[in-house]
Amino acid sequence: MAESVTITDNRSGESIEIPIVNGGIEADAWRKFLGDIWFYDPAFTTTAGCASAITFIDGDEGILRYRGYPIDQLAEQSTYLEVAYLLIHGELPDAEQLEKWREEITIHTFIHENVRKRFLEGFHHDAHPMGILVSAVAALSTFYPEAKEISDDETRHLQVIRLIAKMPTLAAGAYRHSRGMPFVYPDNELNLPENLLSMMWKVAEPRYEPDPVLAKALDVLFILHADHEQNCSTTAMRTVGSSLADPYSATAAAAAALYGPRHGGANEAVIRMLTQIGSVDEVPAFVDRVKAGETRLQGFGHRVYKNYDPRARIVKETADQVFEVTGRNPLLDIALKLEEVALNDEYFVSRRLYPNVDFYSGLIYQSMGFPVDMFPVLFAIPRVSGWLAHWLELLDQGSRIARPRQLYVGADERPYVPVEQR
Ligand code: ACO
Repeated sequence: MAESVTITDNRSGESIEIPIVNGGIEADAWRKFLGDIWFYDPAFTTTAGCASAITFIDGDEGILRYRGYPIDQLAEQSTYLEVAYLLIHGELPDAEQLEKWREEITIHTFIHENVRKRFLEGFHHDAHPMGILVSAVAALSTFYPEAKEISDDETRHLQVIRLIAKMPTLAAGAYRHSRGMPFVYPDNELNLPENLLSMMWKVAEPRYEPDPVLAKALDVLFILHADHEQNCSTTAMRTVGSSLADPYSATAAAAAALYGPRHGGANEAVIRMLTQIGSVDEVPAFVDRVKAGETRLQGFGHRVYKNYDPRARIVKETADQVFEVTGRNPLLDIALKLEEVALNDEYFVSRRLYPNVDFYSGLIYQSMGFPVDMFPVLFAIPRVSGWLAHWLELLDQGSRIARPRQLYVGADERPYVPVEQR
């Protein structure tokens, strides 16, 4: 075999040759040959936990495609709603399918009054909106107990629609509660990003008129954040989904994973970093501190991309359009200078550290008026379509329950000692 690896078991002297398929080898052949010898791989950097036909990434080349379609083409020509259909169904919809999808999502934007009264508004006044979102999504499983019927196609489909449709409503509701403002019901004359803006910002006007440039920018950001294959939150979705839990419980677990600063919180860290740097003149000194290992350059580097993150380029262009409406974010100059210095510095070049999607997205959200604690919530709104696409794929694959091995490094057997003798 031209593309293969040979494994020799030095205990028996036997060898097997395993073909390399798509850059990897299948554990099945390894397992059959080596019996109970497992692979120690913390953080799964060398383990593919599943086969997936949803998203393709080539980190060296800076390529990202959903279902084969390049991310830049989708960002320029599609809408988040259409991309959500693509992720879930595997193909772009025709005009009729798109209209039916739009209608289905639109009629499910409202949440049960008790989700609002008992859950969203039951939280303490200063609760973090992401904490509220995670809990409210989990609570939905009790409102839709039929969601447990995950082998029924129609029931599955209905929960997918509900989750995609209700995320903006829950997100805006979480924000309004955390600011002591009254809940705004969805306006189903508006499209998904417009509706989110209305539910976020509407005050006393009879109808909120969203700025089309800002709504479009939000839609582009939603397209860019809709999926990113086996990241931490998607892995959580698949792991919980593999136990055959209902989709609300699995989505709540995925959202919880997204809450962490290493994942959905990075754009917030970028804003804090830029604010702390304070001025363009301070950039070289800050970069020196990064190089000395005292701090990290937030929004730079990626586990997968070792080239310019293709999403970062689109976000940067979107930022320019947004700033024409909102005025230029004063932190932008610091960000541009940081990027320029880093891209010409040996430390970053040799480690292949480039801006990631989060380097500029926080600047856009901040300029649009979103507080930093809403950033992970804004990430979760579109990512739910990616999570659900993976959940559906997992069920269709008839996957077994996720159950990794472990390397035990604890004590050997020892006798129990009664407390008075310790
Ligand atoms: N600033 C400075 N140095 C960095 C950075 C950074 N942002 N990222 C990596 N490095 C350095 C590391 O110090 C290390 O250097 P060394 O070899 O001299 O020890 C080398 O580059 C490799 O770094 P790792 O930590 O091994 O890279 P890993 O793949 O584990 O981490 C991560 C990826 C977490 C994204 C990292 O680059 C980072 O912390 N970036 C800042 C946070 C961030 O922007 N996160 C958003 C990711 S995108 C998303 O989740 C949507």
